[in-house]
Amino acid sequence: MTNATESLELTRVGPGTPMGGLMRQYWLPALRSSEVVANGDPIRLMLLGEKLIAFRDATGKVGVMDHRCPHRCASLFFGRNEGDGIACVYHGWKFATDGTCLAQPNLPPHQEFKDKVHAKTYQVQERAGLIWVYMGAREQAPPMPEIEASLLDDADLNINFTQRECNWLQALEGDIDTSHFSWLHVGSVTPDQVQDDNWVKYQVQDRAPEFQVTDTGWGTMYCATRPAENGQTYWRFAHFAFPFWTFIPQGTFVDRVIARAWVPMDDTHVMFMALSWKQASGTKPLANGLPIPGATPRPEYQPNTTDWYGRWRPVQNSANDYLIDREAQRNNTIYTGITHIAMQDQAITESMGDIVDHSFEHLAPSDQMITRTRRRLLLAARALRDEGVMPPAVDDPALYQKIRSGERILKENDWQAAYDDGMKAAVRPVPFRQAAE
Ligand code: FES
Ligand SMILES: [Fe+2]
Repeated sequence: MTNATESLELTRVGPGTPMGGLMRQYWLPALRSSEVVANGDPIRLMLLGEKLIAFRDATGKVGVMDHRCPHRCASLFFGRNEGDGIACVYHGWKFATDGTCLAQPNLPPHQEFKDKVHAKTYQVQERAGLIWVYMGAREQAPPMPEIEASLLDDADLNINFTQRECNWLQALEGDIDTSHFSWLHVGSVTPDQVQDDNWVKYQVQDRAPEFQVTDTGWGTMYCATRPAENGQTYWRFAHFAFPFWTFIPQGTFVDRVIARAWVPMDDTHVMFMALSWKQASGTKPLANGLPIPGATPRPEYQPNTTDWYGRWRPVQNSANDYLIDREAQRNNTIYTGITHIAMQDQAITESMGDIVDHSFEHLAPSDQMITRTRRRLLLAARALRDEGVMPPAVDDPALYQKIRSGERILKENDWQAAYDDGMKAAVRPVPFRQAAE
């Protein structure tokens, strides 16, 4: 049960809020590197409830700053990218990517005070084809998280961005709500439709898994178990990692190098980013080589616009009921009637409302990963606010190296042993340094 105070603390991310304070301790992936080109137009970027602009100067450096010019608050979105910085078109003041004021051309030279004004900028790094932003107060930003997929070159990754129109937490919770897979995504699939070597069969044979959930150094973890042949167990391991990362279990543990970020744009919009290693085995087709019903084709996207909410919006949305096909739902060719797995999740989490009313829900034992994750987030946000305790992994980025999600089948009946043993055999696309713990 999440009460009204907890609900507010968990969901609000603007400046001065407990969860906003927690998020600002971490590096946040915010844009694809390709979204800003050298000497190109600035773009609007909404991040943790702050209106920012991003642009790339002639040397390739990226600037992320408050969209308001520090002179009289005109929006720098309308600014001119002049190569060495962005010039506000109101009176021509120009700012470099680090916020340095380069020019105040509307003032006679003896009245200039360039050294006294600074655009409000945030530190930026680029990695894995992404632009990462640090919005915290430290002069020396913490180290970047050593999340396996984010250490790969973008050429080795499939990267997908999708904006979702709801609070970040309910969107993230879809990834750690494992029992929905057997319903929302494969509710129409029967065991005889699944090839014997496809482990989806266990999920359609048994749609009510047992669970174990535990706290970890990086967040929380669950393992769902179902019986398999010859006294073996089908294991599904998945994680939440601070502050908004998930690692879902669909796929083979040994090479499942993925990461999913649910980065809040504001309280009612979240940018979902999925990274996955191109060489990972992926999910096998069902019988006759067919995909999971409704899984293809990939969703289509609207062209990006310059609006605050104009980036990475799918064509299927609440205004067109996600193009639901009631006939497919009725005749059970697609359980939901909605095409594509990601859009099924999109429809359902947006349907809960902008920010879910936690007083209306009735959480069940199948939701224990959600309950534990909320508690972990809440306690960390409060410890930071009240005692200045740094939340998990901020200063220990190697903790993220210990994360791997995916499926295994084995005789083991101790989840920790099954996980540790799986980690020993894990294929590592990048060599890792010794984790700190
Ligand atoms: S408001 Fe930007 S230069 Fe005056
Ligand atoms: Fe889902």
